[in-house]
Amino acid sequence: ISEIARVKNLNRIQMGKHEVEAWYFSPYPKEYAHLPVLYICEFCLAFFPSHMMFSRHRQRCTMLHPPGNEIYRHEDISFYEIDGKRQLTWCRNLSLLSKCFLDHKTLYYDVTPFMYYVMAKRDSAGCHTIGYFSKEKESAENYNVACILTLPQHQRHGYGKLLIEFSYELSKKECKLGSPEKPLSDLGLLGYRAYWAETIIDLLLSVPEGESSIDEIAQKTAITHADVMNTCTTLQLIKHYKGGHVICLNNQVMEKYNKTKAKKRRRIHPEFLKWKPPV
Ligand code: COA
Ligand code: NA
Repeated sequence: ISEIARVKNLNRIQMGKHEVEAWYFSPYPKEYAHLPVLYICEFCLAFFPSHMMFSRHRQRCTMLHPPGNEIYRHEDISFYEIDGKRQLTWCRNLSLLSKCFLDHKTLYYDVTPFMYYVMAKRDSAGCHTIGYFSKEKESAENYNVACILTLPQHQRHGYGKLLIEFSYELSKKECKLGSPEKPLSDLGLLGYRAYWAETIIDLLLSVPEGESSIDEIAQKTAITHADVMNTCTTLQLIKHYKGGHVICLNNQVMEKYNKTKAKKRRRIHPEFLKWKPPV
């Protein structure tokens, strides 16, 4: 891809009730680029160059939720598992849309090696996609997430953490430890660091002080040893003691944690996950 092709080519994107600015280049066909607004059907993800063509489509489109299997439902949040191989068009359209908000990742034009886990919120009008992550069917490096995105109109409401939490629940069901594919974007890193810190502190608070180990945290959270170690080091939780070390919480960390907890975010309730690892 030439440098020119990488220059941001889209302006505004309309989906459902929302209109947002594109952040980065996305390889939509060139007749769809440089329009004042690109119209996207929020259910089938098809794209249209004019409001008129979009409205005509909306009269015909019968889709009211993402394709695939609903594998989780709690309150108004559902997760759908979508096989890239079975839903080529939908997954390609999802990739095109997400590339508008992803800078560094090579976009996977070939969607067939991936499963897509799409989080949607239900209301009387349908089941609206909030965000998703993709996951390689076979990851040599044991990555449990390839790409992760909260649609920009829904960012900063805790949905990124909810997506991340879900990805680790899948890893627990697989009896594996997982980590997101590298490199992470700046926002991705912020989201993961916040999730790792919150999850590790939750766990430390649930066991007698000083009695946890990196390995125990990893096994219980499905976060890799490297990510646990890194988080504990960054938060200065590791205290050297009598030739060994203990993991213990400090005031600074607890202050930040209590502020985060005061915000009361949604959580994944694993008992509502109806899923077996795909074979
Ligand atoms: N500035 C500073 N911190 C931010 C931030 C921002 N713009 N956006 C998220 N964070 C941090 C916060 O610390 C927050 O934790 P807190 O609630 O404890 O303060 C944490 O990230 C999670 O926020 P949350 O609301 O759960 O995440 P989100 O729904 O906004 O989604 C991403 C996070 C990464 C999925 C989202 O920013 C995104 O889709 N970005 C574009 C795509 C991308 O870069 N994906 C990752 C690379 S594959
Ligand atoms: Na989200």
